Amino acid sequence: MPAAKVMARGKMRMNKALFDRLLEHVGFSAHDATVLAEFHPRIAPAFPDMAASFYKHQLQDHITRRVLHDDAQVKRLMRSMQQWLSELFLAPRDEAYLQRRLRIGVMHVEVGLLPDFVFTAMADMRGGLRRRVGALGVESARKEACLVALDRSLDLELALITGSQHEVDRYRDMVDVAPEMIHGVDREGRFVFINRTEELRLGRDRHDLLGTQLEALVLPEDRQILRDHFDRVFSMGSSSCEVRMRTVAGEVMYAEILAVARRDGVSGEFTVSRAYVRDITERRRVERELRESQSLARLGAMAAVVAHEVRNPLAGISGAVQIIGEALPTDAPERAIVREIVERIAALNGAVNDMLLYARPRLPKPAPLALRRLAGDVIALARADRGFGSSGVHLEGEDVVCLADAELLKPVLLNLLVNAAQAKPGGAIRVATGTADGFGFLSVEDDGPGIPDSLRERVFVPFFTTKHQGSGLGLSIAKRLVDAHQGSIRIERAASGGARIVVALPLATGS
Ligand code: HEM
Repeated sequence: MPAAKVMARGKMRMNKALFDRLLEHVGFSAHDATVLAEFHPRIAPAFPDMAASFYKHQLQDHITRRVLHDDAQVKRLMRSMQQWLSELFLAPRDEAYLQRRLRIGVMHVEVGLLPDFVFTAMADMRGGLRRRVGALGVESARKEACLVALDRSLDLELALITGSQHEVDRYRDMVDVAPEMIHGVDREGRFVFINRTEELRLGRDRHDLLGTQLEALVLPEDRQILRDHFDRVFSMGSSSCEVRMRTVAGEVMYAEILAVARRDGVSGEFTVSRAYVRDITERRRVERELRESQSLARLGAMAAVVAHEVRNPLAGISGAVQIIGEALPTDAPERAIVREIVERIAALNGAVNDMLLYARPRLPKPAPLALRRLAGDVIALARADRGFGSSGVHLEGEDVVCLADAELLKPVLLNLLVNAAQAKPGGAIRVATGTADGFGFLSVEDDGPGIPDSLRERVFVPFFTTKHQGSGLGLSIAKRLVDAHQGSIRIERAASGGARIVVALPLATGS
């Protein structure tokens, strides 16, 4: 069912006494009704033209055009407008008429049309009708009576349509300022209203969102969950689900959607799903951190055992193998095997150390630290590292003093340099230091293939690796240590297309 059709099923209330007072106020009498009914057959042939030019005009206006979505809707509206014009001349001003008029106001609010546009549209309509009545070859006293009746009838229409629009607006204002996010969607999953709280949280103009699919804001992986939720809402009348939505700032919001469907007063079908949306991002973050810290605690306990049961024997084995190696004749081919064994043991030992560092890092002892000097020292260390190979390193940027623990940052930077060297063996690495956004930074950039956007978050997940060697902990350790400094680490695409890892650290006061 089209968006606008489904949204205005709620009955507006206006008591009959008030309606009668309004009829009296505009002066609409039984005589007026008779005069209009008498003119109907003469004026009705002009209705299709009037309706067509009305919407042609609305489509030319850049604001009113926004509530008109497609040809089918405009065709439907033209039929409704002809019907409305007929009723203007023929309808008994009874309770059913009152409800139909109030409903027009509600529909206008639902599509986001301001009452001002109805005022001007009604003035145009009045002018058009007056011209057509004036052009009829009818005795002038009869014409005058018709024009008077028409004016009263249009005054009544305006009062009812814009009055209900104002009333719905007041209700809408209350919904708008509610602390919860509230929206409505039709059976096709398109927004039919959005409150201000949700508009602000999503960071999008609600007028741009009206008529668009809620699904488009949901992460592709969660869209099926949303579709199943809609199936339940529109078949059973209520449902809840949890999906992740993307805000305009690119942030992911965990949203709990609690929806209740409203029935169409005529067909009895569920047509609009009204939903409260709870932002549970913070709850999910705390839960995730708790899970992580629990698994870290388990990993820590395991690492301690591994350290004891594996590291110490490894050191013994390595020492023993080296002694055996040295006892071999200098040209014995077995010496290469011994070297290989010692290297493998060193790698194993490195993996155990990584695990310990990740699971049980010591707290940083921050002190003023010149980043450029640190970078220079670590570059010298890296050149001596066997995994580093023949890459060239260029250090640039102003020196900047941060508050950081040099001993904890050295392995971080060393790891970044070795990663950069492995991204393109023999390539060029640029290390830069400087300040940005109130933080000191140190960046390491390679000219390798870069890291695809889809992996940018995942590379910080423990044991995630795209390489054949290594524990898969390097970047997670880096993140953990940098986070412990109240800093941040992020991945960017370098101008060369390679990866650029930026470590931001708090500046030392006064630097
Ligand atoms: C003389 C002033 C107006 C009158 C008498 C009027 C009349 C109506 C009527 C009879 C309906 C259908 C209600 C129903 O189906 O129950 C409607 C709905 C609607 N009107 Fe108006 N209207 C007026 C001004 C406007 C203006 C200026 C616009 C701007 C484009 C507009 C856009 C709409 C829209 C988008 C709907 C929702 C209908 C749908 O999509 O199916 N209206 N109006």
